[in-house]
Amino acid sequence: MDLPVIDLSPYLEISAVDHEPPSLGPELQSLCSEVSRTLRETGALLVKDPRCSVEDNDRFLDMMENYFEKSQEFKRLQERPHLHYQVGVTPEGVEVPRSLVDEEMQEKIKSMQKEFQPSTPMGPDLKWRYMWRVGPRPSTTRFQELNSEPVIPEGFPQWKETMDSWGYKMISAIEAVAEMTAIGFGLPKDAFTSLMKQGPHLLAPTGSDLQRYGREGTVFAGYHYDLNFLTIHGRSRFPGLNIWLRNGQKVEVSVPVGCLLIQTGKELEWLTGGECLAGMHEVVATNRTIDAIESARQQNRSLWRVSSTLFAHIASDAVLKPLGHFANSPLASKYPPICAGDFVELELAVINLKGEKENS
Ligand SMILES: [Fe+2]
Repeated sequence: MDLPVIDLSPYLEISAVDHEPPSLGPELQSLCSEVSRTLRETGALLVKDPRCSVEDNDRFLDMMENYFEKSQEFKRLQERPHLHYQVGVTPEGVEVPRSLVDEEMQEKIKSMQKEFQPSTPMGPDLKWRYMWRVGPRPSTTRFQELNSEPVIPEGFPQWKETMDSWGYKMISAIEAVAEMTAIGFGLPKDAFTSLMKQGPHLLAPTGSDLQRYGREGTVFAGYHYDLNFLTIHGRSRFPGLNIWLRNGQKVEVSVPVGCLLIQTGKELEWLTGGECLAGMHEVVATNRTIDAIESARQQNRSLWRVSSTLFAHIASDAVLKPLGHFANSPLASKYPPICAGDFVELELAVINLKGEKENS
């Protein structure tokens, strides 16, 4: 199954003059409905945004490959465990996939059809990650530790500019999709984007060493959902992402050149009272990954699989609760009001990014 690709251009042209429905016109209205419907049914969406070019993505991937190829000792200089790894680098072996610790999730996996069951990770994730905050932070907040100073590795003069420009561009794409989703769901256009203002958005590329771990079946990121609002990725040079549709079907995602992939997170699930579930996914070395490794080897290219992931968040001090008509949905009581910052801390505690190391 191929996910549809939504070209954001027609919406961007009209949203520049700030139209609200019903003046949006039937074509754009139906485009917005397609966006919200696809997110609801698949938890994912492929988009084309003219502001996010292939060259931008390449420049970012080149720099990150260069970084992840540095020695372990060098990279650990950017590690900030006392800040819950929310800035700087997270080495491989720290992040624990939720499926390894969440018993309810394990039960759910067992009840799934064999062919759709996720790979079983044997331990923590075999991927490095770099966390870089994008966008303005609030001057007063109850959640200071989630809003800490950036870490820049030595010897990368272009770091800040490259991270910020790619990060801002991907946030712009998310904002357009968030507006279209709101319109598609019959909410005010800014229902989501107004809550995203000054949110702790994170550009969080991952690096997986395919030289060391490039065997078929290796799990780079075990079955999980994202705890944030919406996640966006540029195209990776190595395939390997599997997603689960709402109907339980497992789909290997292939992102066409020039496209971006968006996935639904738990904060969106909360705001829609479960109408849009957080999309489950995993990253595993498949036979397509192995083919890509082989051709990278032949062309003498980097064997680090970099994902240019950006987590867009709801502002830490904003309250998560089902919005508008979603407050009346039968599942709304499963989503009681909670401050987004408190919610994120609870979720992080489960996946081991916060905990023992905090006290040492
Ligand atoms: Fe994820």
